[in-house]
Amino acid sequence: MTAIVETKQLTRYYGEMLALNHLNLRIPAGAIYGFIGPNGAGKTTTMRILTTLLKPSGGEAWVAGFSVTHQRSEVRRVVGFMPDSFGFYNNMTAAEYLEFFAAAYQIPPSRWSRLIDDLLVLVDLSHKRDSDVMSLSRGMKQRLSLARTLIHDPQLLILDEPASGLDPRARVELRELLRELRRMGKTIMISSHILTELAEMCTHIGIIERGTLLASGDVTTIMRSLQPHRTFEVHVISDLEQAVTAATAANHVLAVRAVQDEGPPRLIIDIDGDDHAVSALLAHLVRHGVEIIHFTAQTSNLEEVFLQVTQSANTSA
Ligand SMILES: Nc1ncnc2c1ncn2[C@@H]1O[C@H](COP(=O)(O)OP(=O)(O)OP(=O)(O)O)[C@@H](O)[C@H]1O
Ligand SMILES: [Mg+2]
Repeated sequence: MTAIVETKQLTRYYGEMLALNHLNLRIPAGAIYGFIGPNGAGKTTTMRILTTLLKPSGGEAWVAGFSVTHQRSEVRRVVGFMPDSFGFYNNMTAAEYLEFFAAAYQIPPSRWSRLIDDLLVLVDLSHKRDSDVMSLSRGMKQRLSLARTLIHDPQLLILDEPASGLDPRARVELRELLRELRRMGKTIMISSHILTELAEMCTHIGIIERGTLLASGDVTTIMRSLQPHRTFEVHVISDLEQAVTAATAANHVLAVRAVQDEGPPRLIIDIDGDDHAVSALLAHLVRHGVEIIHFTAQTSNLEEVFLQVTQSANTSA
C-alpha cells in the first residue's frame, strides 16, 4: 500500500523541551489510523506539523508525497484538519461558518450553496443550517467542524480528538461518519488518549508517549506483537474435568482454566500458536469427546495493551 503520510526522523523542540523524538511514521492510503497517547505525548504537535501549522526542528514529513516544509500549499490542498477545539465564532450560522471556510479555500461562490447543502446532509445538520453556531451542542459543533475539514475535498483528514466529550450515541454516530468517509476514499488520522474509543473503528494504530513512537502498524499485527499468546473461551456441555484434561494435552496450549460460576460451564485456554494451532485445538477437543457449544477468541482489551506498552517504556527509560 502506498503511504499517504510518511515521516522520517521527525523532531520538534519547544525551547529546550523535546516534544517529538525522531518519529518515523507511515500511514497507508485508505487507513483509519488511530494515534494514541497520554496527555503531552506529542499527538497535537505531530498533527500540526503534518498540516503545516508548525515547522519541524529536524527530520522531514510528506503528505501525499508533498514535503511539509517545502511544498506547504500543496500539502494544504490535500489535507483537512479538525483541531481539538472549536473556537469562537460570533453571530454566525452553520451555513455562514461553512461559507467562511469555502472562501478561505478559494472555492468559487457559485459552488457554495450546493456544496454546503451536501456537507450538512453528510454530517446530519441540515436542520441547523440557519442556527447560530455557538448555540449548537458539543456533538453538533464537532460534526460541523468535520464538515468544514471536508470543504476542499481533501484526501487526508487529520482529526485531533474528535470524540472527546461526546456522549456514547454521538460517538457511535461519529464512528459511522468516519466509516462513511473511508468508503468515500478518504484516509483518516484520528487522535485520542482513550484506546477503547478508537479500538473498533481503526485499521491501524500508532502508540506515542513522550515524543517517542512505541508501536505502529495494522491493529492485528500490533495486538499480536504485544500479546504473545491468545486466549479462547470454550463453552462445554459435557464433563468439564474431562474437557480440562483433553485441552491440557493439546499442542501449543499454555494454560487451561475451568470456570463454573453463574455463567455457562467453560474453559479458558491460553494458546501460543497460529490459526492452524487454534483449529487443531478445536478438532482435538471434539475428537476427545468434548461437547462444545461455543468457541471464541477473547478480544484483548486495548486499554490493557496500551498500559502494558507505555509502562514498559517508562521502566526502560
Ligand atoms: N506551544 C507550546 N509551547 C511549549 N511547549 C509546548 C507547546 N505545545 C506543546 N508543548 C509541549 O509539547 C509536548 C507535547 O504536546 P502536545 O500538545 O503535542 O501533546 P498531546 O499528545 O497532543 O497531548 P494532549 O493529549 O494533552 O492533547 C508537551 O510536553 C507540551 O507541554
Ligand atoms: Mg493534543
